[in-house]
Amino acid sequence: MTVSADVWQPVGSLADLEVGDRKEVSLSNGKLILILRSESGYYACCADCPHQDTPLAEGSLDGDILTCPLHFWQWNVRTGEKVGIAELPLEMFELREDNGEWLVRA
Ligand code: FES
Repeated sequence: MTVSADVWQPVGSLADLEVGDRKEVSLSNGKLILILRSESGYYACCADCPHQDTPLAEGSLDGDILTCPLHFWQWNVRTGEKVGIAELPLEMFELREDNGEWLVRA
């Protein structure tokens, strides 16, 4: 039986992210995540759309609403909850700051 546990992994400084910016980060465990800065804060989610794996970095972020560029599914980045026509939630990861360096639990 294989047991995997999410661990806190460094993603560096996010000081260069402006509101509305997105940044893909490849973690040492092979996961690709997307870090976003919305009007309400910093969030981390899966990098690819849960519908057909479109890179969400190419989508748009308006307020706290992230929109996939392909079929326009939307989610609230505060919670990962689907909005509008989306049929699946967005996988979110915990994110925290430690002395200017950010860590994601994934
Ligand atoms: S691939 Fe993102 S909504 Fe279809």
